Amino acid sequence: MNIAIFGGSFNPVHLDHITIANKLVDELNLDKLYIMPTFVAPHKRGDSVVSGADRLQMLKLAFENNDKIIVSNYELEKGGISYSYQTVEHIYNALKPTNLYFIVGSDMLDNFPTWKYPEKILSLATLVLVERRNGEFDDEKSIAVIKSKFNKTVKKVQVYGETISSTKIRVYKKLGLPLDDMLPFSVEKYLLQNDLYLEDSLYSYVKLNLPLKRRYHVAGVIILAVSLAKKLGVDTKKAEISALLHDIAKYENPDNVVGFIYDKDMPKDIIHQYLGEYIARTKLGVYDEEVLLAIKYHTTGRPNMTLLEKIIYVADIIEPSRKFAGVEPLREEVKKDFDRGFKICLEEIVEFLIEGGGEVYPLTLDALNYYKEN
Ligand SMILES: [Fe+2]
Ligand SMILES: [Fe+2]
Repeated sequence: MNIAIFGGSFNPVHLDHITIANKLVDELNLDKLYIMPTFVAPHKRGDSVVSGADRLQMLKLAFENNDKIIVSNYELEKGGISYSYQTVEHIYNALKPTNLYFIVGSDMLDNFPTWKYPEKILSLATLVLVERRNGEFDDEKSIAVIKSKFNKTVKKVQVYGETISSTKIRVYKKLGLPLDDMLPFSVEKYLLQNDLYLEDSLYSYVKLNLPLKRRYHVAGVIILAVSLAKKLGVDTKKAEISALLHDIAKYENPDNVVGFIYDKDMPKDIIHQYLGEYIARTKLGVYDEEVLLAIKYHTTGRPNMTLLEKIIYVADIIEPSRKFAGVEPLREEVKKDFDRGFKICLEEIVEFLIEGGGEVYPLTLDALNYYKEN
């Protein structure tokens, strides 16, 4: 009997999950695939993770009529922190499968060695990486680490060409962007009927003040910034808010904003970073200094930036809707080595500005010189 465990928060389940599940059943020749939504403590949910009951119900809607796929409430029922090794042991002991597979994404594989008792998981199950294109993680590096640390190989199943993520759905929903072709119809209906993933006041502000096209860009920056923050150990909530608000002043006339003082010679493109910070601080009640700095220098950069500032700077340049020539190699650099990638972004922007005959803002030159040596 071939069994696989496919865990995740499924917040919410989406069409890529269904594609992945079907592909896993086929390629691993599975008799049963256990979909395992993880328990998330209510106090850790914040405003972004909905209840286990809702996530379970959406999974049931998404996978009804497929008798090889079982939606399990094991971890939800158990409550508290669920360690994957316990889930693997539970399924192994209950079913005694010939082959047990444990499905992971790139992000999970990246930090797998830090999990509780990874060797126990590997003694009972084979890791299967669902490989996607355009991720922020270097899969080959993670696979090599597992090989050298545990002497185990990782199986790969490729699911290419899709770009849906649960984060994307939540962000799109809150920014009023269409969710076309991202969710099964039944799940989309459930989400609307149950008022899930509603926007807070900051999202409302952005929704009201930025046109559709800019909101797609903002969504792209949020998704990438949160993913980079997770990878680099930066507070993901701060990354989300900084990215959400970074362009709020893009369409604002600085002369109409009471109390905002600026140098009239400042290039138009630069003003919006300072004005954005001003609006966030004085009108939107954002007090977090790190968030404010990330908004304030997202266009120019500056010497000695915080990691959050760098994340917003980079995400703004290479988020998925950016299509300029040369963006792809930049994405690769950032994926391989964030700090190096950041420096290359900065250099390329300066080059681009000079080639275009435009002026390079002094603060950007300061940043460039600083990062040549640091
Ligand atoms: Fe901007
Ligand atoms: Fe931007």
